[in-house]
Amino acid sequence: MSARMDVLLGAQWGDEGKGKVVDVIAPEYPVIARFQGGPNAGHTLIFEGRKHVLHTIPSGVFRGGTMNLVGNGVVIDPIVLMKEISALEAVGVDVRDRLLLSRRAHLILPTHRTLDAASEAEKGKQRIGSTLKGIGPTYMDKTGRNGLRVGDLERSDMMDRYSALVRKHERLLGLYEPMERPVDAETEWLDAVARLRELRFVDSENYLDDVLRSGKRVLAEGAQGTLLDIDFGTYPFVTSSNTICAGACTGLGVAPNRIEKVVGIFKAYCTRVGSGPFPTELNDELGEAIRAKGREFGSTTGRARRCGWLDLPALRYAVTINGVTELAMMKADVLAGMSSVRVCTGYRHQGRVTERMPYDLTTDIEPVYQEMDGWGECSASDPLPKALEHYIAHIEAAVGVPVTIVSLGPDRAETLLRNAAALH
Ligand code: IMP
Repeated sequence: MSARMDVLLGAQWGDEGKGKVVDVIAPEYPVIARFQGGPNAGHTLIFEGRKHVLHTIPSGVFRGGTMNLVGNGVVIDPIVLMKEISALEAVGVDVRDRLLLSRRAHLILPTHRTLDAASEAEKGKQRIGSTLKGIGPTYMDKTGRNGLRVGDLERSDMMDRYSALVRKHERLLGLYEPMERPVDAETEWLDAVARLRELRFVDSENYLDDVLRSGKRVLAEGAQGTLLDIDFGTYPFVTSSNTICAGACTGLGVAPNRIEKVVGIFKAYCTRVGSGPFPTELNDELGEAIRAKGREFGSTTGRARRCGWLDLPALRYAVTINGVTELAMMKADVLAGMSSVRVCTGYRHQGRVTERMPYDLTTDIEPVYQEMDGWGECSASDPLPKALEHYIAHIEAAVGVPVTIVSLGPDRAETLLRNAAALH
């Protein structure tokens, strides 16, 4: 009988800890598939005392017997991908046998990165706070029907296509202030492309159809988070892809009726990196304390993440838009030791309180908070403190789906399955 695909995605502004959860549940899935984003992502996994950061490769790569697919919705920078592969090979991970690239995935060129930097520089104070990995310009070329795809590397006229795209970029760059550029960027890119050609390319929609028909389960792994979605995020302070569940259909070529579970990952508090509205942000010592204890610094850019209280209207919005069937709560241990914690239950907006996400989060938004008891130190080997159980029950009641995973530390082992039956 044909199997179903489950989707795992971020329910906040990214950095929720998706990589860790994928790694924990990977043994359930013969195939893990990334469906959008690119090297702007940084999925951190810690086990056996080692830290690994993945940017393009799905987080199932550390498990033997798991195939990892980079789907058509992903944008690939050959330089970043080949560095990632070398780093994994250096610690003995057998990447090449476990990795497949979709022929339909688009390639990030060095000139995409320069265009990203030029566009951000021109925006000045209005800048998005992009990771400057070339994500926006690459998706622009995709929708503008100018892009270069992985499958083009198999064509004899690949260099002509590459040169035509670079010429177009050079003309565009003429519209901006001149940008400093690394001298050997093109050589480095072409070298990486030559090595990338040795990897396995597939028609991923057909591959996944075969996998599902053979009864094997697939896990679709999202990057960034719902509130960074190009359509439903806090536009224009968003990324350039659909980070929501629907993105798994378009980013992999799997029909919506083949999706079974949708696992939404969220932190017990909120973080955001880059610019844009963040109603529950804590611009005080408490925000700094959470940042320090939660080590809230970007795994791709090293930037300090903005920290704030959990935002239930935003989480409910994510549950609705994605059809989340279960939630994984990360980093409850970071809030341990506080006498009380707060959760935002609604926004005061245009003179009334709403539990819905308004169109514009930048003006006239005041969070309405509920104060709750804090909890003490907690570990995955002990029962959860009562106050933390109460906090979780409150979230479940507010958003209408169960929290099935509670993560209490960065290591694989520091994970508690609250209702394992719901996962399988
Ligand atoms: P871009 O996707 O690099 O252009 O960045 C657009 C916005 O999304 C910026 O605010 C970034 O900080 C944010 N962003 C992009 N990728 C991630 C991520 O993986 N985690 C958190 N924020 C991200």
